[in-house]
Amino acid sequence: MIKKFLDLGYQPLANKYLKSYKKLSIKKKELYRLTVGFDTKTKLVSLFNKIPDRIMFDSNYPYKSSMSKTMTDSFKKLSIKIKKRFNPKLFLEIGSNDGALIKNFNKNQVICVEPCSNLAQITKRKGYLTYNNYWDLNLSNKIKNRFNSVDVIYSANTLTHINDLNQVFKSISNLLTQDGILIIEDPSFLECIKKLSYDQFYNEHIYIFSALSVTKLILQFNLELFDIEKLDTHGGSLRYYIKRINNNKIQIKDTVSKQISTELKFGLANFLTYKKFGISVKKSKNDLIQIFKKLKDKNKKIIGYGATAKACTVLNYCKIDNEMIDYFVDTTPDKSNRFMPGKSIKIKRYKKTLLDNVDYIYLGAWNFKNEIFKKEKQFIKRGGKFITHVPFPKII
Ligand code: TYD
Repeated sequence: MIKKFLDLGYQPLANKYLKSYKKLSIKKKELYRLTVGFDTKTKLVSLFNKIPDRIMFDSNYPYKSSMSKTMTDSFKKLSIKIKKRFNPKLFLEIGSNDGALIKNFNKNQVICVEPCSNLAQITKRKGYLTYNNYWDLNLSNKIKNRFNSVDVIYSANTLTHINDLNQVFKSISNLLTQDGILIIEDPSFLECIKKLSYDQFYNEHIYIFSALSVTKLILQFNLELFDIEKLDTHGGSLRYYIKRINNNKIQIKDTVSKQISTELKFGLANFLTYKKFGISVKKSKNDLIQIFKKLKDKNKKIIGYGATAKACTVLNYCKIDNEMIDYFVDTTPDKSNRFMPGKSIKIKRYKKTLLDNVDYIYLGAWNFKNEIFKKEKQFIKRGGKFITHVPFPKII
């Protein structure tokens, strides 16, 4: 039974940056209700309204994995680890984006799967075999016919974006060699709840995984966890290492039982924990609004930094618009001169001078806080301050 614990109101589609400001309407289905539930049986957290993949991931997808040093460094380290630990002859990435990970592998060793054609073109152009498709059983069979099987399948921040999880894992199991390894990484619900980062919820994040829910989910496909790593990326993620249950060559590390027992101790198996999270989110909203109001009463100039999908949830939930935030700065070319969905706040292509005369910066990309603070030493030195809502609304 799926029980609701969070209602973030009517929201526009995140990552659909507008060319000009437009008031979106519920009637035209430009807004959807963002409500989140917990399945008491499977322990899986999911959105109630699931937007079809084809609407979300198209030829204009703006997010690029290579845009931050934190991400490219993390992918480089991972590629070294995968080669050393598993030495795959054939490696497949679901959601290869602009190739931030696969560029660390040999071209004859890699298969990319990417549904967004603007991104798929990037890896194709660089000479990597790229299927510009959604991940499903048809594609899995097509690859199977050509290559028979794949040694390692990897997917970061993608599987949780796909509606039909059963098909996702069936298609993976269909293609993996008997000793094959599946590695997935996604935001950790435990971190989300600890950090009160309710902005992890937006239309693309249909599911937020925990070790508890992943264990149950993959069991149906005779798969099991054998290792878990904690990552700082995306505000705290888990990297799950998965094998076939009948593969006895690989030992199960105690990282798995440790993570599961931490989650159980934190109450992730009980609905009450989720209910309390929902109540804390409401308080976080009120406190953030108060911070903005107080600063605006003093005529302070506030801008946003990082026009993230996460910020889209916060702005629309807390009703923060261009009266509060003058503009957002962001390094992503595809986002510049666009508007934050649902709110009339312009996104400007990042340049240092856009921070001149700014008193406060709202951290849309709070998950890159360290990278941003390092970059903006000058702003901090001259007394500039940041606003964040993670783990609770405050000025830094
Ligand atoms: P991310 O947090 O991955 O976003 P999402 O919530 O959409 O998944 O994206 C970070 C955004 O922040 C991305 O649009 C680029 C931007 N950014 C900057 O503009 N400058 C920076 O220094 C960093 C680290 C990120």
